[in-house]
Amino acid sequence: MTPIRPPTRHENKGIKEEIENLEPITASTHTPVYMMHKFWARRPWKVFKTLIERFTSEGDIILDPFAGGGVTLVEGLIARRKVIAVDLNPLAAKIMRHEVATLDVAEFISALESIKKKVGETLDKLYAVRCPICNRCGVAEWAEYDRESNEALTVQFKCPEGHRGRKRPEPGDLPTSPKMDLTRRVKIPAGDKTSDLLGNGYQYFDELFTTRNLVAVQYLREAIKCCETSESVKSFLSFTLSSTLKWASKMSHRRGEIIEGWAMHAYWIYPKYLEINVWHQFLRRADAIIRGKEYTNKHINGYAVEGESFEELRNGEATYMILNTDARELPIPDGGIDAVITDPPYGGNVNYAELSDYFLWWDSELSPKDREIVINRTRGFTLEDYGKGLEMVFMECHRVLKEDGLFISTFNSKDLRVVAAFLSALKISGFNYIGVSYQPYLKGYETTFHAMQVNALPFDFIFFLQKSNSRETKRKMPEVSSNTLREVRSALAREMERCVENELTEKDYRLRTYPVMISAITSLEPSLAELLANYYEELIQRNKDYFSRIRSKVVEARRSSKKNS
Ligand SMILES: C[S@@+](CC[C@H](N)C(=O)[O-])C[C@H]1O[C@@H](n2cnc3c(N)ncnc32)[C@H](O)[C@@H]1O
Ligand SMILES: [Zn+2]
Repeated sequence: MTPIRPPTRHENKGIKEEIENLEPITASTHTPVYMMHKFWARRPWKVFKTLIERFTSEGDIILDPFAGGGVTLVEGLIARRKVIAVDLNPLAAKIMRHEVATLDVAEFISALESIKKKVGETLDKLYAVRCPICNRCGVAEWAEYDRESNEALTVQFKCPEGHRGRKRPEPGDLPTSPKMDLTRRVKIPAGDKTSDLLGNGYQYFDELFTTRNLVAVQYLREAIKCCETSESVKSFLSFTLSSTLKWASKMSHRRGEIIEGWAMHAYWIYPKYLEINVWHQFLRRADAIIRGKEYTNKHINGYAVEGESFEELRNGEATYMILNTDARELPIPDGGIDAVITDPPYGGNVNYAELSDYFLWWDSELSPKDREIVINRTRGFTLEDYGKGLEMVFMECHRVLKEDGLFISTFNSKDLRVVAAFLSALKISGFNYIGVSYQPYLKGYETTFHAMQVNALPFDFIFFLQKSNSRETKRKMPEVSSNTLREVRSALAREMERCVENELTEKDYRLRTYPVMISAITSLEPSLAELLANYYEELIQRNKDYFSRIRSKVVEARRSSKKNS
C-alpha cells in the first residue's frame, strides 16, 4: 500500500478525497498478540494497520495518547513506524510491554515444565474428583455453584483414563482447600462498576474467589517466584497468571455450553457461578502466550527497541516508548510527532481504571482514578469534565504534532452529546476537521458484550483532523452556525416523522441521521454543537415510547421467524 504523505494545509483536497475513498476495512478477528491478555474494547487491528500504512510513512513517529490494549503500538511497529504509546492505566502499560517484548519461547516452555514438575500434582489434588466411570481419581475442569448457598451443584470431570463428563459432586470430591493466610487483602473501592458488588456485602477483592482458586493462584505465584529462569521469562510467567485471572474468579459463568470468564464491563457474580480449574487454565493461557509471542517474534522481531527519551527515538536506535502517565503532559518536544493515531475513552462506556483493579490488586497499587478521562457518577466526573480532560490532551497533541501532521481518531458512542464533547474538544484545541470515514463492525463483533451492552453503534467513526488556523475559523463560524442549526433541527424532525411512518427503530434513526449530525457538529462552534446534540438526544427521548414499542415488535418478529425456521 502506498502511503499518502499528509498534505499541507493548501493541499487538503487530496486528503479529503482519500478519506472519502477509504473503502470499508474488513476487520478480522484479533491476531494472537491481542489474545494474550484481556483488555476492554480493543479496536479492530486491521483498521489501525490500514490507517498507519495509508497515512504515515516508514520511520515516522506516531503518538497514541490513549494507547489501551496496544493496537497502535503493535501495528505501528509491525509497519516499521516508531510509536509513543501513552496510557494512564498501569495494566494497559503492562499489557503493551508484554505485547512488544521478545520472548525466548523455548526457555519459556522449559520454565513451564519445571513449574509443572514442582506444583502440578499439588494443584491437581486441589481439584480432585472421583471418576464415576472407572473410579479413579480425576480432576474437576470446573464446578458450578449456587451463589446463595455456595454449594457445588455440578462438576465437569476428567480422569487419567480419558473419561470426561458431568456429575453431582459427592463427599470426597473437591476436598477442602488447605488454609491460607492472605498476605494481602485489598478493599474494593467505591465506583460506578463496583457498586452492585459492594451493595451485596462484598468488601475485599479476595472475596471474588473461592478459597480453592485463591490457593491455586497463590501456589502459582510462589512457583513463579522461585522458578530458576531469566527475568524476562519470569515476567512472562507472571503475565500468564495475570491473563488466567479472567477465568479464576466467581465472575465466571456458563452460558449454555460456553464457559465464560469475566466478560462484563462491571463487577458481578451470577446466581450460578463457576469455579474454573486455575491450573489447567494457566496451562491453556501459556499456550496463548506462546502463540502471541511467536506471532510478534516473527512480525516485530528485533525492531522493537524501547527508548528512554524522545531523543533516543528521534536520533537513536529506539523505536518505541510506553509512557504510563497522564497524556495531559507529555515529555515530547514541540512538533516532534508526525501523526497522532488514537482511540480515546468514549464517555462512561468503559471505566478502565475501576475494571483493571481486578488484575492489579494482587501485587501493586490500584489504578489511579483522579486523572482518568471518563464520565463517572461515583467520582463526580461529568460530561463536562470529560470534555475538558479530552481538550487538555488534545492541546498537548496539538503542541507536539508537526505543522502538517494528521490527527486520526476512531470513536464510537451512541450518545451524540459524547460525540459532540469529543469533537468540540478537538476544535477548541485548535484542530480543523477534514473528514470522517464510517467503518462497519466486523461480523461477530456486533454480538460482543461491548457492542451489545454499551452504547455502541454498529460502526466506528474515523475522524481526520489537522492543525487549524484558529483565528480564521473563529471569524468564519458564527454566521454559518445559526442557519445550520435551524436547518438541521427541521431535517431531524422530518426524519423522525418518516421514521414513525415506516416503523423504523431507534438504531435506524441514528444510522440515518448520524452523518448529517456529524457534519453539522463539526461545522458549529462548540456551544452550538452542544445545543444541537442536546436537542437530538431530547428528540429521541420524546419518542421513547414509540421506539420501545417498535423494538418489542422487531424482537417479537425475530423470535417467531426463528421458531418457524
Ligand atoms: C478506548 S481506550 C483505548 C483502547 C485502545 N485503542 C485499544 O484498542 O485497546 C482508552 C484508554 O484511555 C486511557 N486514559 C484515560 N484517561 C487517560 C489520561 N488522562 N491519560 C492517558 N490515558 C488515559 C484509559 O486508561 C484507556 O486505556
Ligand atoms: Zn475414568
